Amino acid sequence: MAYPKSIYASSLLLLLTFQVLSTISEAVVPASDTFTYINEGDFGDYVVEYDADYRTLHPFSNPFQLCFYNTTPNTFTLALRMGTVRSESLMRWVWEANRGNPVRENATLTFGTDGNLILADSDGRIAWQTNTANKGVVGFQLLPTGNMVLHDGKGNFIWQSFDSPTDTLLVGQSLRAGGVSKLVSRASAANNIDGPYSLIMEPKQLAMYYKSANSPRPMLYWTSVEWFNVDVATVTNGSLINLTLTSVPDTDEGFLYYLTFLYYITNPPSGWNRNMAYSRYNNTLSYLRLGIDGNLRFYTYNSNVQGVAWELVYTFLDRNSIEGECQLPERCGKLGLCENSECVACPTPNGLSGWSKDCEAKVTSCKASDFAYYKLEGVDHFMIKYTRGDGGRKQSDCESKCTKDCKCMGYFYHTQGSRCWIAYDLKTLTRVGNSTHLAYIKAPKK
Ligand SMILES: *[C@@H]1O[C@H](CO)[C@@H](O)[C@H](O)[C@H]1NC(C)=O
Ligand SMILES: *[C@@H]1O[C@H](CO)[C@@H](O)[C@H](O)[C@H]1NC(C)=O
Ligand SMILES: *[C@@H]1O[C@H](CO)[C@@H](O)[C@H](O)[C@H]1NC(C)=O
Ligand SMILES: *[C@@H]1O[C@H](CO)[C@@H](O)[C@H](O)[C@H]1NC(C)=O
Ligand SMILES: *[C@@H]1O[C@H](CO)[C@@H](O)[C@H](O)[C@H]1NC(C)=O
Repeated sequence: MAYPKSIYASSLLLLLTFQVLSTISEAVVPASDTFTYINEGDFGDYVVEYDADYRTLHPFSNPFQLCFYNTTPNTFTLALRMGTVRSESLMRWVWEANRGNPVRENATLTFGTDGNLILADSDGRIAWQTNTANKGVVGFQLLPTGNMVLHDGKGNFIWQSFDSPTDTLLVGQSLRAGGVSKLVSRASAANNIDGPYSLIMEPKQLAMYYKSANSPRPMLYWTSVEWFNVDVATVTNGSLINLTLTSVPDTDEGFLYYLTFLYYITNPPSGWNRNMAYSRYNNTLSYLRLGIDGNLRFYTYNSNVQGVAWELVYTFLDRNSIEGECQLPERCGKLGLCENSECVACPTPNGLSGWSKDCEAKVTSCKASDFAYYKLEGVDHFMIKYTRGDGGRKQSDCESKCTKDCKCMGYFYHTQGSRCWIAYDLKTLTRVGNSTHLAYIKAPKK
């Protein structure tokens, strides 16, 4: 009898030993490093982006701080703020966890021993999490780059906030084919949901799209064109793998710091740089933002200059560039003729009148007998610059396509090349001074 019992005892001992060993090797977050922050208490006193109310949380790494903020009462976003109180400048939101999925008062942010970081609403509903339970996470850190990371025992990042951009890329942050390959604009300062604009890293270019309720497909209004096609650094035979925003000091001259896209391509497998903008001081603390207005801008933070720490370093669709603001779909609101970045006229069936925000195209009925087209010469739609349209079309075919399509607001036709574009939204039209570029806009028959 004693014999089997001792076998039982020793195997139990073995089992216990095994369990103890495996618990030791299975990484856990030390209890002293776990935390729970509750969204409660007084709001901060300083001016932050979107005129938001905010509460700071403990994680801070100059000039970044984790916060809850809200622009409308009781709809909070967990976000990283950039800028310090000492800089006496606007503090901006450069990363967020839960766009479009706000939490309320008394929501909690919990980092548990299992290594998962969870944002839960006050009723316990999980609004956002890193999904890193039992994946070897031993610690949480907010790095001086603005990257919030969960790391394992060897310092590898199991999760990082840099992998989930929304509308902003900080220096060091990337877009990736097969990962997050786009930025999406914010709807408005007050409303933190996805807006209509996106910047997408496509296989051969960066592209910006405008999505509207009326249009079946997002409309292209800008591309990087030849950026990734200069000299040998070309994507002709391959495609973009990733693109990282970097800050590169000019070592020759010493006084310039470039904001550079570092990008990798597949064929030939290689990495390249493209300088996008520069400043005359260390611009490591910079970001690229796809704005509420659909424009793309670089901002740099320099904590040495109190009161005006921020500099708008570069605007992609800039009024002083060839491109100009007329390429912005909503530059002239619902409808307007744009020239040299200004809204200069409101097209009407009776000719051009002065532009105001009320300028609008009205199609009240779908029946072909209820509307007619009026014509504008030397006018393009914002989607025309970067799209080819349908070539070799007769104008009458282009027109009948629009007539049959209830949602078509008008069509655009280039007599050279017989190119046709159907427009589901008019918005900003550009004066191009080329009488072969024609616009036909639907208007109700009187
Ligand atoms: C938040 O929780 C505290 C403590 O449980 C409670 O007193 C307070 O009323 C709650 N606030 C809201 C807005 O629910
Ligand atoms: C692309 O491939 C073609 C055919 O293999 C080759 O002739 C050309 O040099 C390649 N271009 C680049 C930029 O690698
Ligand atoms: C980008 O892709 C290259 C090539 O695959 C890789 O070596 C590099 O680590 C990637 N960079 C980032 C930031 O993902
Ligand atoms: C620029 O600033 C960053 C931190 O703000 C620092 O790590 C880096 O060394 C600086 N670069 C140069 C060239 O001084
Ligand atoms: C007008 O546009 C067409 C392309 O649609 C182009 O071929 C032509 O050169 C332009 N004419 C002028 C005067 O710019």
